Amino acid sequence: MTGFRRVASLHSAGDLRDHLARLGVSLPFRILETGEVDPLAQPCEVGGGVTVGNRFCIQPMEGWDGTTEGAPSDLTRRRWERFGRSGAKLIWGGEAVAVSPEGRANPHQLLIDEARVADLERLRRALVEAHEQAFGRSDDLLVGLQLTHSGRFARPHAQDRPEPVILYHHPLLDRRVGIAAGHPVLDDAGVERLVRRFVDAAGLAHQAGFAFVDVKHCHGYLGHEFLSARSRPGRYGGSFENRTRFLREVVAGIRARVPSLAIGIRLSSFDTVPFRAGPRGEGEPEEAARPYTCAFGADPDQPLQPQMEEPAGLLALLESLGIRLVNLTAGSPYYNPHVQRPALFPPSDGYVPPEDPLVGVARQIAQTAALKRRFPGLVVVGSAYSYLQEWLPAVARGVLEEGGADLIGLGRMALSYPELPADVLAGRPLERARLCRTFSDCTTAPRNGLVSGCYPLDAFYKARPEAATLVAAKERAAARADA
Ligand SMILES: Cc1cc2nc3c(=O)[nH]c(=O)nc-3n(C[C@H](O)[C@H](O)[C@H](O)COP(=O)(O)O)c2cc1C
Ligand code: SF4
Repeated sequence: MTGFRRVASLHSAGDLRDHLARLGVSLPFRILETGEVDPLAQPCEVGGGVTVGNRFCIQPMEGWDGTTEGAPSDLTRRRWERFGRSGAKLIWGGEAVAVSPEGRANPHQLLIDEARVADLERLRRALVEAHEQAFGRSDDLLVGLQLTHSGRFARPHAQDRPEPVILYHHPLLDRRVGIAAGHPVLDDAGVERLVRRFVDAAGLAHQAGFAFVDVKHCHGYLGHEFLSARSRPGRYGGSFENRTRFLREVVAGIRARVPSLAIGIRLSSFDTVPFRAGPRGEGEPEEAARPYTCAFGADPDQPLQPQMEEPAGLLALLESLGIRLVNLTAGSPYYNPHVQRPALFPPSDGYVPPEDPLVGVARQIAQTAALKRRFPGLVVVGSAYSYLQEWLPAVARGVLEEGGADLIGLGRMALSYPELPADVLAGRPLERARLCRTFSDCTTAPRNGLVSGCYPLDAFYKARPEAATLVAAKERAAARADA
């Protein structure tokens, strides 16, 4: 598959250091001596007099397993209960929940409206109760809800039927999603309606007991697309002020409606051009005319390089709006997955990683650290730690110690081995057989219309009928790649 050295084979700190040096990247890491205070166990003050009990955060992760009406299913509840039992004290959003039916990324995405608010309250309670059963308290647990509109990647009715809502015509992504030149662009009145939907959704999230909402601005979805809408005319495109107007209006609306609800932003702090499989299946960037202005946080003349000024401008704006909770991620799972979720094995619609996945991990950690240092007053969650596997706790401690983030976000690792935080904090050895090895089945499954889950390592999913369909889908993808 790939010639990259497996993380599991890096047995000592020296192995890791040498390997990173060969890759030309650096990652902070710190091995805890017996009796030392664990930085991961330290409480974190997140604003408004609220303190979360430790430095682990569970990242939002959809399961493509809600009902067609957008309510949680038993599978959704199982995932949220496992998040609750993880031991992490910050739950960033649970998963992306659509604020309107046409904004769903798939026909099984959760939806927030009057009809489903009680279901979402029960879902949150299930998580909190699971946490209380495992740890005896929840007064230091903070649970938010991620609000989204899927924009360009909306598929509300059928997995194989994109129904994109776009803010501007994109020189490369339009073709990918099958958007014709005449496809309508959401007009300003439509944006204003959506602002109201986000504000209504925040009111409902508050009613359901969530402590904060994340107004999602990452991964190519609608909030993120505003940030790169340079070619859009009118009030919501062009200048930085216009491209952030949607965000400012949503924040102002939420503040007016539910002043006690905290607001967080999950941001792709950099993006790059779309990648595709090259002749030998390896990921390669699509050719893009320069300056390339469609990637927020990338250098327009060298769009493979992240830059700092744009995300720093956005974080300064958040600070001026009194928003402290920030979760930094990067890129998009649809058009540059190796940037967004570094993995050894690509998803079925992906490509062989064009770089050692540790390079992708280091890129996100470095950008997050640079931004955190520039904005020490923000509470910053870092992303893309799962590929670190055995080295996750040591790197997490190194990042915290160097002030490169306030909380360590766990995505895929929380699907394969949700109790990792509890084990680390209790000083128990890691269960190596449960470490996420980035097989990408949790991404491949939904790409093939199946519910998401950790099919290789979670016995519950391994035993489900979808497992066989997934194997067949992967074989088809492998045959296509070989052809
Ligand atoms: C199956 C799956 C579903 C995801 N769903 C969401 C989501 O709903 N919202 C979001 O912001 N990120 C989502 N992500 C991205 C993760 O939150 C995280 O940023 C990414 O997996 C990288 O972190 P990791 O290396 O710890 O997995 C998802 C990732 C996976 C694998
Ligand atoms: S399917 Fe499991 S092992 Fe594979 S990437 Fe997802 S969580 Fe990790």
